[in-house]
Amino acid sequence: MERGTFSSGLAVFFATLGSAVGLGNIWKFPYLTGQYGGGAFLLVYFLCIIFVGLPVMLSEFFIGRSTRKGAVGAFEKIAPDTSWKNIGKMGVAASYLIMFFYSCVAGWVYYYLFKAIRGDFVSITMESASVQFGSVVTSAVIPLFWQCVVMAVVSGILILGIRKGIERVTKTLMPLLFVLIIICDIQALSLPGAMDGVRFLFEVDFEKLTGTAILTALGLAFFKLSLGMGTMITYASYFTKENNLLGTGLKVAASDTIVSLLAGLAIFPTVFSFGLEPGAGPGLLFMTIPLIFSQMPFGSLLLTAFFFLTAIAATTAMLSLVEVPVAYLMEEKNIPRRTAVLINGVLIFAIGILATLSADKASVLGHITFMGRGFFDWFDYLSSNILMPLGGLLIVLFTSHVVSRRSFAQELTNNGTLKIEWFLPFFFFVTRYITPALLIVIFLNAVGIISW
Ligand code: PFF
Repeated sequence: MERGTFSSGLAVFFATLGSAVGLGNIWKFPYLTGQYGGGAFLLVYFLCIIFVGLPVMLSEFFIGRSTRKGAVGAFEKIAPDTSWKNIGKMGVAASYLIMFFYSCVAGWVYYYLFKAIRGDFVSITMESASVQFGSVVTSAVIPLFWQCVVMAVVSGILILGIRKGIERVTKTLMPLLFVLIIICDIQALSLPGAMDGVRFLFEVDFEKLTGTAILTALGLAFFKLSLGMGTMITYASYFTKENNLLGTGLKVAASDTIVSLLAGLAIFPTVFSFGLEPGAGPGLLFMTIPLIFSQMPFGSLLLTAFFFLTAIAATTAMLSLVEVPVAYLMEEKNIPRRTAVLINGVLIFAIGILATLSADKASVLGHITFMGRGFFDWFDYLSSNILMPLGGLLIVLFTSHVVSRRSFAQELTNNGTLKIEWFLPFFFFVTRYITPALLIVIFLNAVGIISW
């Protein structure tokens, strides 16, 4: 079957950034930064990006581009007839698990965008914001309808393929996301008392830096850059041969962090200006934001812009999540793209119903729990806490112990044409010792063997 590729370096950049930028930037990043004390958490997060995120990302780029195969086939090509290909299978499993709950939250975002356009938040109060969100989370119909819309949009784009689908959409929507987020920032920063929010985001207070905060920063860096589950392997298999992998990795990690900071700058100044709590949990996005944005000048428009940019972020991230099993079915089972996309779309929606109907204790299936967790929480826990860090660990062990340094160096330097030799000894040292050590700590903590 003919294998698609992205058409240029810019297309590679926007598609990869589209995968990294997602609900993580707008929902997880601000509330975790809020919860763990602002600037000090940020500092640790930056270090995690450098010492864990980039090494795993470059390892995935290497595996994908050198083999031109998706997550499972790539391992089989480098190390035939070994168990390493199970890392790819774990990646496919992790993509499904993430999609089950991610498509549910994305469905809420689409619905909130629809409500913002309709003007539902015009005279909202604290009580009505929480009643509105509660009724969405516990309803059996609305969130399923919007989850179905989400899956239809994602599947529709993926059916168009790499260039006409993923490339065209990410190239158009990523710049738009930047424009929208900057508009929200300008409004937020012009509020009285906005500087308290800025200070909160950047002030470094080491007392708040607990062990849990450090591990959370590490896990967040992973989730943010879509690592440990073959997404970057699959996307890199569509990169051009001339693409500078190190340059792409650095640009994507930096731009993704900038989007997170811009989201923080839209949210914290507003939260502080209205005298609310910064670490308000996931409700920050669906209760606090509608409440405060609607009271600002041009409130309805601003809220529409905000949920539109969140919907863009969620959609482009999901393209990369679903492409992992799509590539698997196409390559390993010889199924054409259109059928592979449809099978995955239907499957994710069907099992995603379990996540959506168990998102809250009061949801229809909220009473069904196993060891204290419902479906939604299990999907999140298994993928984010177990499969992603374990996958990341195995990927760096693979590239630092199984793959020869020569072939890794050749791929990173594009057969010696890029002059980045100075960087390689440092990079190989970090991927061999530092990144695996840090990932072992996260993993042991995630499964409860050590606790900090
Ligand atoms: N990076 C995305 C976010 O921050 O929301 C989430 C994600 C996408 C995780 C793709 C994993 C993945 F493979």
